[in-house]
Amino acid sequence: MKHNATHIRTKIFSPAIRIFHWLRALSILVLVVTGFYIAWPFLVAPQSSDILVQGWVRFGHVICGFILTAVTLARFYLYFFSRSDIERRSFRDVKSLNSWIIQLKSYIWMGHLHKAGVYGPLQYVTYVAISLVAAVICITGLVLYANVYHEGLGGMLWDSAAWVTTQLGGLAQVRLWHHYLTWAFVIFVVIHVYMAVWSGIRFKHNSVDSIVSGYDYLKPDSHH
Ligand code: HEM
Repeated sequence: MKHNATHIRTKIFSPAIRIFHWLRALSILVLVVTGFYIAWPFLVAPQSSDILVQGWVRFGHVICGFILTAVTLARFYLYFFSRSDIERRSFRDVKSLNSWIIQLKSYIWMGHLHKAGVYGPLQYVTYVAISLVAAVICITGLVLYANVYHEGLGGMLWDSAAWVTTQLGGLAQVRLWHHYLTWAFVIFVVIHVYMAVWSGIRFKHNSVDSIVSGYDYLKPDSHH
């Protein structure tokens, strides 16, 4: 019996990109929840309790903070030096006004953008922006860390932390920026998840699945 596959399988995301994506997703989720708790510690321990709620919440925050910092550094490196240029290629569409117009039209069901890489131009600049926000939230987080933990890494970071603190106009400002930028992640995650599901349906390709499996499936006669 002869069986003809209806779709072609293409590899789009390397294991490193996929693992880092989910590490970031998990750490951002924990950081937002623990961060808002640190800002507003509403749980009151019974008197003479030795359960250090704020301490454990802060511990979880800092652990995930270091995971996010490490992944952010690794992703900046991979963007420029990874073997696959599927991300870098998308920059061609960012430079073309025509690609912008075609993409925006495709969102209202008018035509279809044949992308050079894996991201559309609007998606690409959004990811660049959120990566820069991640860099700033990691830096301000490390500054706060150095002010709480003076030994080891905190001590090593102290001089740079003092410099950043001066630039931002004091420690209170560092904390405020760290807090405001949390909202950029909250807003990003909601739109990002929505668009991931929506674009899979709209453009009939593998969307959420490919950041798990690495593969996209295309009809031989279609582009995406
Ligand atoms: C998506 C990333 C992150 C989010 C959403 C986030 C969110 C927050 C929020 C909302 C606060 C409370 C600020 C306030 O008191 O108003 C906070 C505090 C803090 N964050 Fe983050 N944060 C992130 C990344 C990091 C990173 C990368 C580090 C570095 C290790 C870090 C270290 C800290 C520290 C040390 C504090 C202060 C804890 C304390 O005073 O006990 N955060 N964070």
